[in-house]
Amino acid sequence: MDIIRTKAELRKRVSSWRNSGETVALTPTMGAIHEGHLSLVRLGLERADRCVGTIFVNPRQFGPNEDFATYPRDEEGDFAKFETAGCSAVYAPAPEEIYSAGYKTEVIVHDISEVMEGASRPGFFTGVATVVSKLLIQAMPDIAIFGEKDFQQLAVIRTMARDLDLPMEILGAPTVREADGLALSSRNAYLSAEERRIAPALHAAMTAAAATLRNGANPPAAAEQARKAMLSAGFQEVDYIDIRDQDSFQPASVPGENLRIFAAAWLGSCRLIDNLGV
Ligand code: PAF
Repeated sequence: MDIIRTKAELRKRVSSWRNSGETVALTPTMGAIHEGHLSLVRLGLERADRCVGTIFVNPRQFGPNEDFATYPRDEEGDFAKFETAGCSAVYAPAPEEIYSAGYKTEVIVHDISEVMEGASRPGFFTGVATVVSKLLIQAMPDIAIFGEKDFQQLAVIRTMARDLDLPMEILGAPTVREADGLALSSRNAYLSAEERRIAPALHAAMTAAAATLRNGANPPAAAEQARKAMLSAGFQEVDYIDIRDQDSFQPASVPGENLRIFAAAWLGSCRLIDNLGV
């Protein structure tokens, strides 16, 4: 597996594969690679001849009081995992390769960036849309794959790629969960043993709310039921628990089809997010 540090080398490598008739999938990550990321690589290799993993802890998607400095980093371990999963290359650029001196440009996706994660973490989606547009333009893959664990992020990226006419397919991959339902996330490493025991209550609360919605419950009542269940399980604070149309992201006030439950909540210093189709 090639370790690529510059955009010039990345573009050369991807275009040489494409010129010889091979298709290329890109799996952008911030590292701290786990099974969820590796499932993106596997999906990439089902859909394309080559897969390139990227590792870049993007400073522009962290707020001033967030965990940029302490975000888990393990480059050598990540390279080994990408290689074992079958990546042909990993792109791990230095910050200057993404944001050169005098960098001025941001990509803002309106509306769907302004609710839920966007409301709780101002600037987060602008940071994501900016870095992902740059990674896609630098690599020019045939496909780019993102996890449905960050369902709103996936929708923001799809909208950005469509609006900017980026000529690649954006593919979502199902969330990978532990046996007890906890969605895999690099930030799960922040959980203490006691918090790890409580954490599956997030998925359990959403699963129970989905069942009541399928039985005809009103979305606001189902959301309130899930919020109470999470707090009584031991979550300190629920940032949001929203039931929305999964395409338009409009809040649902009456029972309907095409709904998805979205939640973010705090357990100690760890903010967990998750979502579930009804
Ligand atoms: O989901 C992530 O890991 C990041 O937000 C992404 C898409 C790699 C952009 O930095």
